[in-house]
Amino acid sequence: MDYLAVENASKTFGGGVRALDGVSFSVERDEFFTLLGPSGCGKTTLLRSIAGFADLTEGTITLDGARLDRTPPHRRDIGMVFQDYAVFPHLTVAENVAFGLKARKTPAAESAARVAEALATVRLGALAARLPAALSGGQQQRIGLARAMVIRPKLLLMDEPLSNLDAKLRIELRDEIRDIQKSVGTAAIYVTHDQEEALAISDRICVMNAGRIEQIGTPQEIYADPRTIFVASFVGTMNVTPWDAAGPGFPPGFAPDRAHVWAIRPEHLRIGEGRPGAVAIRGEVDKYTYLGREAHVAVRTPDGRFVIQVADPAPGLRMQPGTPVSVGFDPANALFFDEAGRRVATTRTS
Ligand SMILES: Nc1ncnc2c1ncn2[C@@H]1O[C@H](COP(=O)(O)OP(=O)(O)O)[C@@H](O)[C@H]1O
Ligand SMILES: [Mg+2]
Repeated sequence: MDYLAVENASKTFGGGVRALDGVSFSVERDEFFTLLGPSGCGKTTLLRSIAGFADLTEGTITLDGARLDRTPPHRRDIGMVFQDYAVFPHLTVAENVAFGLKARKTPAAESAARVAEALATVRLGALAARLPAALSGGQQQRIGLARAMVIRPKLLLMDEPLSNLDAKLRIELRDEIRDIQKSVGTAAIYVTHDQEEALAISDRICVMNAGRIEQIGTPQEIYADPRTIFVASFVGTMNVTPWDAAGPGFPPGFAPDRAHVWAIRPEHLRIGEGRPGAVAIRGEVDKYTYLGREAHVAVRTPDGRFVIQVADPAPGLRMQPGTPVSVGFDPANALFFDEAGRRVATTRTS
C-alpha cells in the first residue's frame, strides 16, 4: 500500500483559478519526492493541502493508511520548512527548535534531548543559545529544518527552502538535506522551480504544469526520457525545432508520422560531420559562450538555431560569428513530439 497517496486532487480558488486539476501521485515511506514546475503551477497549493493549511475542492489524501484530509492540521504529524525561514526572532536557536514539542506538551527532559539531537543533525549544536539574528541565512534555514524534524514527523514538506540562499550555499545545503532525509528515513516532499536542484536531490520528480502533472519519474527518466515537450524543455536545455518532412537529413521513414516538432540536447550535438550514419546540418556560428568546463556554440541553420555543448573546450578556441560549420548528431538521440506536445516513438525505438 502507498505510504502517501494523493488522488484526483483539485483546487479552485474564488475567481475560478484552477490551481490544481486532477492531480494523483503516491510517495513511498522513505522516499525523497520533488514537485518541480514553473512559478504558479500549483506546487505550494498542493503542499498546503497536504499540510492542512488549505482544503481541496475535490480529491483525497491518505497518509499511512489514514485519511489525512479529514485530520485537523495540528494532528497530521507533518513537519514543514518554508522559503522564508519563519524563525521566531526573540527565541534562541534551541527554543525555536523546542517550540513544536512544547505545543505537544513533551516533558522537559525528553524535549531537551530531542532538541539536542535535532540540532546535532543539522550541525547547529554549538549555536543552541544564540538568537537567530546572529546567524546566517543558511544557519537560519537549518533551524527551520531542525524544527520540522524534531517532532519526528510522518512526512516532511519543504517549500523552496533554498530560494533565499546564494548559489554556493544552495548546493551545500541541498546535499545536506538529502543526506539528512536519507539517514532519518522520513518521507519528504520537496518543492522547487529549479530543475538542477530537483535532479540532484530527488529519488523521483513530479513535473507540474498549470495545475497538472506532466510526468513522474526518476531524475534519469525525467531528463533522458521526457514524455512531453514541456518536460523536455523545462528540464535541462533542449533544442526544439519544427519538424519538416523535407528537413535535415534524417534517414527516410525515421520520423514518426505524427511528428510536429523534434528535439535534441546540446550534449548530443557535435561541431563537424561526425561519424557515418550521423545527420549533418549546415549552418554558421551565431554565438560562442565559454563557461570553463564547457562552451556553448549557437549555430544558425535553415532549420533553426541549435545550441551545441562542447565539453572541456580548449581555452584558445574561439568561434567567430559567421564561421561556417556543420552540426552533426546521431538521429537515435532525436526526440519527436506530436501537435499536443506528447512524445511519439521513432520507428527505431518503438
Ligand atoms: N489564495 C489564493 N487565492 C487565489 N488564487 C491563488 C491563491 N493561492 C494561489 N493562487 C493561484 O493558484 C495558482 C497556483 O499557485 P501556487 O500554488 O502558489 O503556485 P507555485 O507554488 O507553483 O508557484 C496561481 O495561479 C496562483 O495565482
Ligand atoms: Mg510556491
